[in-house]
Amino acid sequence: MPDLAGKVVVVTGGGGVLCGAMSVALAQHGAAVAVLDLSAEAAQRVADRIRADGGRAIAVSGSVLSRESLVEAARQIHAELGPVDILINGAGGNKPDATASADQSFFDIPAEAIEWVFNLNCLGTILPCQVFVPDMVARQQGVVINMASMAGIRPLTRVVAYAAAKAAIANFTQWLAVHLAQQYSPHIRVNAIAPGFFLTAQNEFLLVDRNTRQPTARGQTILTHTPANRYGTPDDLLGTLLWLVSDAAAFVSGAIIPVDGGFSAFSGV
Ligand SMILES: NC(=O)c1ccc[n+]([C@@H]2O[C@H](COP(=O)([O-])OP(=O)(O)OC[C@H]3O[C@@H](n4cnc5c(N)ncnc54)[C@H](O)[C@@H]3O)[C@@H](O)[C@H]2O)c1
Repeated sequence: MPDLAGKVVVVTGGGGVLCGAMSVALAQHGAAVAVLDLSAEAAQRVADRIRADGGRAIAVSGSVLSRESLVEAARQIHAELGPVDILINGAGGNKPDATASADQSFFDIPAEAIEWVFNLNCLGTILPCQVFVPDMVARQQGVVINMASMAGIRPLTRVVAYAAAKAAIANFTQWLAVHLAQQYSPHIRVNAIAPGFFLTAQNEFLLVDRNTRQPTARGQTILTHTPANRYGTPDDLLGTLLWLVSDAAAFVSGAIIPVDGGFSAFSGV
């Protein structure tokens, strides 16, 4: 397990379910964590939890969709914690409007909904890299971790915009890994984690029946196609996260690591 003492980490979407758990784990391993989230309260909750456990964290309210907001966040992070060593691009998600369903065919999905999902996942990963990676370039080392998805490896039904946007994240992860190594330093590594299915606010409407609280047909299909036969819990991501930010992964860059209970390996037969 890595010793992250002296490292400054920015976690976008750090107020959320998966990246909140990541923020806590990084702090437990000694990092100073900037929990950056659109929701100031969510960021504060996670930062408070880290501080209550004796760790070092600040809450930063900002949007990954605004370069101005990120530059302001960087100013605050530099002043309070110092230059950034590790960036976790966690902000992302989907929403019902951008999903094909019984109520809305693919042909009727509004352009704005597709744009919302593309922007949050793609632009919202690229802009933080533009703002925070220069700290790594200045020191010739650093780590970026993006959040891809099973949906970006082979598209999942219904979530058309999300699947395309996450495929773009996997592609951008490889692009940035090569670009930074060739142009700036081979000691700046860029990888992605591709989580399988974790029951969270962004997908609950697809996986759990609102009235009966039983798995939907889609939820049941996921479980039968996940050899581990369960949804992931946020803690399931932490071993991979801690490995990727550590020197044990010094020769790992441009990789998209599935953490999916075997979902991507299973043909269904
Ligand atoms: N839950 C899953 O099963 C699953 C599976 C694969 C990938 N992922 C990905 O993992 C990441 C985290 O997912 P989660 O389930 O923890 O989501 P979540 O909704 O719990 O957390 C996302 C956080 O991002 C914040 N956010 C939204 N817009 C923002 C913006 N413009 N600027 C800054 N912050 C913003 C939200 O306030 C929220 O706190 C996402 O990229 C998601 O797509 C999730």
